Amino acid sequence: MIPQSLINLLRDAKRVAVLTGAGVSAESGVPTFRDAQTGLWAKYEPTELATPEAFKADPELVWNWYAWRRELAGKVQPNPGHVALAQMEQHVPDFALFTQNVDDLHDQAGSQNITRFHGNIFGVKCFDQHHMIDNWDQLPGTPPTCPQCGSWLRSDVVWFGEALPDGAIETAADYVRSADLVFSIGTSSLVYPAAAVPIEALNASVPVVEINPNETPITEHVSLALRGKSGEILPLIIEKVWG
Ligand code: OAD
Repeated sequence: MIPQSLINLLRDAKRVAVLTGAGVSAESGVPTFRDAQTGLWAKYEPTELATPEAFKADPELVWNWYAWRRELAGKVQPNPGHVALAQMEQHVPDFALFTQNVDDLHDQAGSQNITRFHGNIFGVKCFDQHHMIDNWDQLPGTPPTCPQCGSWLRSDVVWFGEALPDGAIETAADYVRSADLVFSIGTSSLVYPAAAVPIEALNASVPVVEINPNETPITEHVSLALRGKSGEILPLIIEKVWG
């Protein structure tokens, strides 16, 4: 299932970059964005809640959705896919992980060189001034407000239409252009600019391996598409290359 060519390439690689998305945390029990939601949130599209416009229209709804996701993210554990990526970092001399995920499961698994494209769900900041807030009073009915400026509090994540952290994409693009191998794992490859990172690599003739149970828009362009769950495929790769 893991081609020998990939085993050889990874064993010899000096510089490896990995882009991850929500699929990497799916086996830990964190719902992805484009899977149907269940229960309480089944009638909402996550992508329609993750915008400043949605928050302005209904701050309570969006605050509650992120509060629910934050609580969930606080309860879950890294899965074998996260662990395998932390192990890969130990073996590769120059390794960088770029993630769209807002949970902390890569950190918990022991990954070190992590760049977050879309923020951190455990952070809370105010909507108007981006004051970072550690403690807040939750009153029923509305989101809490900023003790410094009074504006609504929100999650410290990047919403559609908002800028990514300064330099994050440029750093990733530079890094992948000079990598020996790039992985794109558990992402639908639909959301830009993150989705451009593996494309940068392909344009620079750097091999890209996709790991995903489903096809994505980049599948037909990548060097190798491994069809399956990251929590199953990544440990196999580690075992074959360094086991
Ligand atoms: P998506 O929900 O768009 O895509 C998740 C991907 O993971 C899909 O391609 C699934 O096929 C795949 N997948 C599911 N289970 C998997 C598993 N066990 N192993 C590997 N892959 C699996 O999530 P992202 O691509 O991360 O942004 O979404 C990108 C961004 O859109 C998110 O960061 C978020 C979202 O809206 C913002 O909120 C700004």
